[in-house]
Amino acid sequence: MRKRVIAGNWKMNKTLTEATQFVDEVVKSIPADEKVEAIVCAPFPHLATLVEKTKGTNLKISAQNMHFEDNGAFTGEVSPVMLKDLGVSHVVIGHSERREYFAETDETVNKKTHAAFNHGLTPIVCVGETLEQREANETMSLVETQVKKALEGLTNDQVAQTIIAYEPVWAIGTGKTASNEDANEVCAHIRNVVKSLTDEATAEAVVIQYGGSVKPSNVDELLAQSDIDGALVGGASLEADSFLQLVEAGT
Ligand code: G3H
Repeated sequence: MRKRVIAGNWKMNKTLTEATQFVDEVVKSIPADEKVEAIVCAPFPHLATLVEKTKGTNLKISAQNMHFEDNGAFTGEVSPVMLKDLGVSHVVIGHSERREYFAETDETVNKKTHAAFNHGLTPIVCVGETLEQREANETMSLVETQVKKALEGLTNDQVAQTIIAYEPVWAIGTGKTASNEDANEVCAHIRNVVKSLTDEATAEAVVIQYGGSVKPSNVDELLAQSDIDGALVGGASLEADSFLQLVEAGT
């Protein structure tokens, strides 16, 4: 039985004051249920404070990106060594906004995924098609390529620990959600791709999230699908009440 993973990706939102208020409120009410893992993906400047505030709670803290090198002359970048040292547990890799605006490629996604495992961080690897790609019937092949490249060279054990987030780009922040069936079909395809790369046990273990306009009113039906194990949520994760409802849905 796979656990459910609900991750709130704040993107470039919230001051430190707002972030700490959110976390103080959420940790008071977060369900103590081993079936569900709750994660907040916060901006870099807030990570140290939020890790301290969530110690001993059921809320985990993730970064939204990182460099793949341990250190060096990469002005403005943050390394996996730094994240691990802070106590961060997860890192989002290859979000479509990084791919679109910051030149993230399948190759850098792969390097970052390896770097995450090398430093004991759990990667949340994002894949997904644009509207043009969906309309051209390229969704399955595109997602397959993204998954294969992201996971290249990992051990089966590492693949089993990777969280894969399927986020159709056209559904992000638009209020448009993929239908439950369409989202599940792609997530099932991703699981099959993982199986083809590894084995049945690994494919059954890997957690696959759906992301794209997930909110409390549609999360139940998405989580009821056979191959959707969680959600990567942007807008609806910004308010504590809404985030808590999403986590509750995973219990
Ligand atoms: O990482 C989260 C996704 O980009 C989804 O964002 O829930 O605002 O559509 P959204």
